Amino acid sequence: MDAGRDALTFEGASQPLRRGGGYRRAGKGDMAATYPIAVPDGALADAALADAALADAFRAARNLTVALAAPLSEADATVQSMDDASPAKWHLAHVTWFFETFVLRDHVAGHRPYDPRFAYLFNSYYEAEGARHARSRRGMLTRPSLAEILAWRAHVDAAIVAAIPGLPAGVRDLVTLGIHHEQQHQELLLTDILHMLAQNPLDPPLWPAHRPRPASAPGPIGWIEGRRGIVEIGRDAGDFAFDCEGPRHATLLHPHAIADRPITNAEYCAFIADGGYARPDHWLSDGWAWVQANRIEAPLYWQRDADGGWTSFDLDGRHPVHPAAPVTHISYYEADAFARWAGARLPTEAEWEAAAEGTDPDAGNLLEQAGPIRPQAAIRSSARHQLFGDVWEWTGSAYLPYPGFRPAEGAVGEYNGKFMSGQFVLRGGSCATPRGHVRASYRNFFYPHQRWQFTGVRLAKDL
Ligand SMILES: [Fe+2]
Repeated sequence: MDAGRDALTFEGASQPLRRGGGYRRAGKGDMAATYPIAVPDGALADAALADAALADAFRAARNLTVALAAPLSEADATVQSMDDASPAKWHLAHVTWFFETFVLRDHVAGHRPYDPRFAYLFNSYYEAEGARHARSRRGMLTRPSLAEILAWRAHVDAAIVAAIPGLPAGVRDLVTLGIHHEQQHQELLLTDILHMLAQNPLDPPLWPAHRPRPASAPGPIGWIEGRRGIVEIGRDAGDFAFDCEGPRHATLLHPHAIADRPITNAEYCAFIADGGYARPDHWLSDGWAWVQANRIEAPLYWQRDADGGWTSFDLDGRHPVHPAAPVTHISYYEADAFARWAGARLPTEAEWEAAAEGTDPDAGNLLEQAGPIRPQAAIRSSARHQLFGDVWEWTGSAYLPYPGFRPAEGAVGEYNGKFMSGQFVLRGGSCATPRGHVRASYRNFFYPHQRWQFTGVRLAKDL
């Protein structure tokens, strides 16, 4: 996916995607290991219908990206608010470069690059694709214009749709990979836009104000006893998954329980009110140093209002913090400190996955269309709430290779394996994760101080 933070891994379009053949991909949107490839649900024996389904999934993903960015001005789409974030215009271009490079350039006879100079600007981190523009300077790209990028998108879209009927299976898999990559960038696009808009003291909204779902406090946490003993997690070949989700393997779960819902804003406010950010005994050493160095005293985007309450900045503007909604935009350090304060701990990723197995990901509050999004208060309709959607949940597990993990040979092997250092796994997707994209085995990962994604916390405890 993107350079630097190419951590999210998304699949799925407006249509569900399912297993298919195999392709080679990399982590966050770049190509890496050999993968089973998902093909649009309903991929039929009839090749023409399969072509139509793939083209529909492609169009849906491409159109949603443009719709998400539609409210942006040229300036909005150009600036870069921090090194971790990319300008919206860069996201729009980079995902287009992906299709043009790995499908059209490599597999469609007679294709000529729309503009050969774009490869330097919009390659993320493919060493095999040569030199590229520095990630920290993407915000300096006032040219090409947003209109030129959109024109390039339309050109590539037409070329891909025209090419699909003649593509061999392996290249069709690359189109599907590109769809997943596009969706991966849709979440980053939104979180990067949110961070960019949050730099403006006027709190400009991306979309008109959205009324949150009315909800009362969800009541005390319920504890669900987890599976124990030797449990298998991870994905085998056969279903679409990113390489880091496999191989499926046995792991040992000790007696434990996992909370039946994420921590709410009201509960997090209690942590703050109890001096949570002022007492080093709650914090990991690195976390305490981070709190002090950055003067952290609340989740990202929170501000005190005139009455001493808290407001948060969302994609639809600044609003009072909703007490019943899951807390979000917290770092691993904050999630861990909250858990310690609460007398609990973070779940391991194996505990989380074992709890989520059999739960329908699409039942969650996920991204479906352009428009206001935010974590919503739980609706008590099942024993396990919000495992999918709303907020990514920090686990206490370092992002490391599973037993038997092998990155692909060559440059495409850069995608996931090379990022397995110093990051922690998050599970479950968020309100900005495209519907159809996340699953129980899905491993997102971020550095422990990062919190501009929709990141939250669910507790676990030993029994
Ligand atoms: Fe990417």
